[in-house]
Amino acid sequence: MAAVISVINLKGGVGKTTTTVAVAQVLAGTYGRRVLVVDLDPQTNATVMLIGERGWQEVNARERTVAHLFRRALRGTPPGDVAESILPDVGSVGEVRGLALLPSSLELIEVQEQLSSMPRRASFSVSPAEVLRHALAPVLDAFDYVLIDCPPSLGLVTFNGLRISHGFIMPTIPDVLSTYGIPQIMRRVRLFADAFEMHVEPLGIVVNKFRQQSTVHAAQLHALAARAPAPLFRTVIPENNDVAGAAEFRPVSTLRQKWGYRTYEAYRDLTAEIVEKVEHGR
Ligand SMILES: Nc1ncnc2c1ncn2[C@@H]1O[C@H](COP(=O)(O)OP(=O)(O)OP(=O)(O)O)[C@@H](O)[C@H]1O
Ligand SMILES: [Mg+2]
Repeated sequence: MAAVISVINLKGGVGKTTTTVAVAQVLAGTYGRRVLVVDLDPQTNATVMLIGERGWQEVNARERTVAHLFRRALRGTPPGDVAESILPDVGSVGEVRGLALLPSSLELIEVQEQLSSMPRRASFSVSPAEVLRHALAPVLDAFDYVLIDCPPSLGLVTFNGLRISHGFIMPTIPDVLSTYGIPQIMRRVRLFADAFEMHVEPLGIVVNKFRQQSTVHAAQLHALAARAPAPLFRTVIPENNDVAGAAEFRPVSTLRQKWGYRTYEAYRDLTAEIVEKVEHGR
């Protein structure tokens, strides 16, 4: 069965989407794993990174997005074949094969509101946090990893992702404001998991956009290592303009070309740590 990992943080712009897509591409391209990215963010950034603006417009017009899956479940209409919403071979990097995407849509914003009002409607048999679990159940066996890119909140849409997750990753920027909320996230996830009598493993904090020259970053990294509210990945992702440039959907042959060698190495090392934890329990 697939190892399911949610990428979460209450804070926006810390690198959730970038990390999700990069790790997914290394898992598929370098490790040869079968990987599904689920884009749970109505901002649709992971979707646009992996299929381009035009690709996204097309799937949205055909109502083949995660928002439409939720919609059908909320209307009580049959979910249809979830496999039809999964794009089997996405991304624009030649060496990356076997990376699949369940795309997102702006309509997830309304879905979030509808989910919040669900418990008041007695006719519902499915809990509002379990819509995704029911929708994805038929396809989970087809993948080794499912990575879920979550919006910068811990609302019901994110909880739908956590409900099917074995672990979660928290990218953060090593400054005071960005790391401040991590204990709250840990607490919220624990309360949620307890309510569903499940366990979601905090796989770790990923320090992202690290600036070598910054004394604040150095001090904050030190503080996180000394008293981290969750495990800390050894690999630190440096700030690098090529990462922002690589978000564009344009064809390249290799991941090294896409990010440059140093950043490729960082994402490869981070992915190696994730594989260790997930596949060897370390
Ligand atoms: N290591 C990095 N070096 C330089 N730029 C980066 C790095 N990681 C991410 N970025 C850039 O920072 C911005 C925010 O990153 P990203 O979209 O991944 O964050 P996010 O946490 O998913 O944001 P949101 O909360 O809005 O979903 C993007 O423009 C991205 O290209
Ligand atoms: Mg994002």
